[in-house]
Amino acid sequence: MRTGVCYFPEHWPSEDWERDVAAMADAGLEYVRMAEFSWGVLEPERGEFDFEWLDEAVELVGDHGMQVVLCTPTATPPKWLVDERPSIRQEAPDGTVREHGSRRHYCFNSDAYREETERIVERVTERYADSPHVAGWQTDNEFGCHRTVRCYCDDCADAFRTWLADRYGDVDTLNEAWGNAFWSQGYGSFEEVDPPGPTPAEHHPSRLLAYARFASDSVVDYNRLHADLIREADPDWFVTHNFMGRFPTLNAYDVSADLDRVAWDSYPTGFVQDRYDGEASPDQLRAGDPDQVGMDHDLYRSALDRPFWVMEQQPGDVNWPPHCPQPGEGAMRLWAHHAAAHGADAVLYFRWRRCLEGQEQYHAGLRKADGSPDRGYADAARAAEEFAALDGAGHVDAPVAVLFDYDSLWALDAQPHAPDFDYWALQEAFYGAVRSRGVQVDVVPPSADLSEYAAVVAPALHLVSERLADRLTDYVAGGGEVLFGPRTGVKDTENKLRPAAQPGPLAGLVGATVAQHESLPRRLETAVRPVDDSAAAGDDGGASPSLPFRTWAEWLAPGAAEPLYAYDIDGPADGRPAVVANAVGDGSVTYCGVWPGPDLADTLASELLDRADVRRTDPLPDGVRVGYRVGHTWVTNFTSDRLRLPEIDSESLAVDDADRDVVDAAGDSGPGQSADGVVVGPYGVAVVEGDRVDGLRVARP
Ligand code: GLA
Ligand code: GLA
Repeated sequence: MRTGVCYFPEHWPSEDWERDVAAMADAGLEYVRMAEFSWGVLEPERGEFDFEWLDEAVELVGDHGMQVVLCTPTATPPKWLVDERPSIRQEAPDGTVREHGSRRHYCFNSDAYREETERIVERVTERYADSPHVAGWQTDNEFGCHRTVRCYCDDCADAFRTWLADRYGDVDTLNEAWGNAFWSQGYGSFEEVDPPGPTPAEHHPSRLLAYARFASDSVVDYNRLHADLIREADPDWFVTHNFMGRFPTLNAYDVSADLDRVAWDSYPTGFVQDRYDGEASPDQLRAGDPDQVGMDHDLYRSALDRPFWVMEQQPGDVNWPPHCPQPGEGAMRLWAHHAAAHGADAVLYFRWRRCLEGQEQYHAGLRKADGSPDRGYADAARAAEEFAALDGAGHVDAPVAVLFDYDSLWALDAQPHAPDFDYWALQEAFYGAVRSRGVQVDVVPPSADLSEYAAVVAPALHLVSERLADRLTDYVAGGGEVLFGPRTGVKDTENKLRPAAQPGPLAGLVGATVAQHESLPRRLETAVRPVDDSAAAGDDGGASPSLPFRTWAEWLAPGAAEPLYAYDIDGPADGRPAVVANAVGDGSVTYCGVWPGPDLADTLASELLDRADVRRTDPLPDGVRVGYRVGHTWVTNFTSDRLRLPEIDSESLAVDDADRDVVDAAGDSGPGQSADGVVVGPYGVAVVEGDRVDGLRVARP
């Protein structure tokens, strides 16, 4: 495991470079990423290239014993190029052109831009093909950032029509597949189909899904162009891309098929503000949410089933969320370890030094504007030192798969049927329940081979083909354990209902159908109770608990399945089954017809883990998570409390908080060890030798 940083030599006088690069090496950093927005500096006029500055910077990094990651500079086409070939610009649905002046203003389907891309990518990759210091390349930068996956220009209209013709063959097949008799939406030819522009009422959901798929495929194609050119120049380089957090419009699994390594950009305190369901707590505003970040770690690791990188790690306060509180003391080290616990092999901080110019002047770096160390620098240096001591930590071998399906996300996004129905948040409700038992999770597409997983969780597998239903049925019959969430098996792969009752082709496996569904605002009651009161009431024989859910309710009609929970509300659903279980072959299935609150989700997840014989911890406190890679177990604390690990003695710690001056929210400070187990400080970390998951307990002192 290694650390690194993103550096922009072109923003600084060359006299500063030596000092900067030496300070990177001093901190133990090993990778320096450069050049992702540098087209205008590398080629100030068409055909006039200036590579000397980058040559010098690459050499300098190499001289200090570090490796360079270079980037194709296509995220920022320079002004002369935009003026010469204005058709490369993106268009919004209403035809508004996305102009030069920020970044990502180009269209993925522009032939003109693909030509220009080939030209610049060939040029920069050839230039460094023999450099011993360049380890690999990042393609472009954050494909789709600033809502740019979907463009609506004429080039996209043409490309969309070609894409439709490839997919459907003839237009009658398209009309049939989408159901275009509705509101007279039938087409006479592919030429008639436009990108979904402004309309009086909402769009046809099948057309929206097709456009979402097409737009994502366009990025896949465009990325492949880069990857091929990079490999042509030097087959020894790795090719990666830096994906984004909780990013909905690009199918990262598809893009990753053309990469050697997957990377992503992690900004925990930003994400809990601008892409979070709910209001962030004070601790989350200081350190983010470990499950929100963790689900992306797991998704991107699973995309190629190999160690991933964090290409940009938040270095301190950032410029783009609504508010920018300073992260908790030590958070920049905590995030690096949390990534490692999820299987990261490298964490690079963004950026080296606070910039004096341009849009990101309010973004911290590891160094202040004057070049002196900022808060993140010591954290990064400490993480680098600790990573070196942990060398040899193995790969993540996750026993549980959570199915993540971009097509279902796009379909539900077209028809959420409730203002607060957010696919990502529903995924996190189930994912968080498994993670709060200390279990490692792969986040995989439904096409993944499931045979090696002890259990599978499918929170909202909305679009289900007959083939997928057969594969899931075989998995269970062969001994697999599955937990389905609500709105599963509702539609076919074109986003159309089937005449059969839901969950459609999964009804046999689930052993029940959905008699009714309802979406519920918060002022209507939403709770379920166990059907078998005596079992649920527990030893003390008290009243059985009422467990809250939210937003979505399905009234289930069990056939072979047995009801586990029934509605407990003052309303028409009262007493009807809400959660059912069915045994099939050597395995079993639980179908949960509601969006579960944390208690119901925890009960269902821990029952699933027990059925599947998966080792788990006691329930972990909110904000505290455990991860393991062969050889080591991480306890990461995203809270301002001090924690105690009663069963762990200091001898078995590979990384501890012992010499951190750990003061918790209550103002108590203390050493990293106590008579009874070890202490983890606020926003702190402990890494324990060996595999300590079974029954691990985390307490508050
Ligand atoms: C926001 C910002 C971008 C980008 C991402 C983080 O969308 O506007 O600058 O950094 O988040 O990945
Ligand atoms: C993204 C981008 C970077 C920068 C940061 C700011 O991750 O890739 O260029 O804008 O956000 O946080």
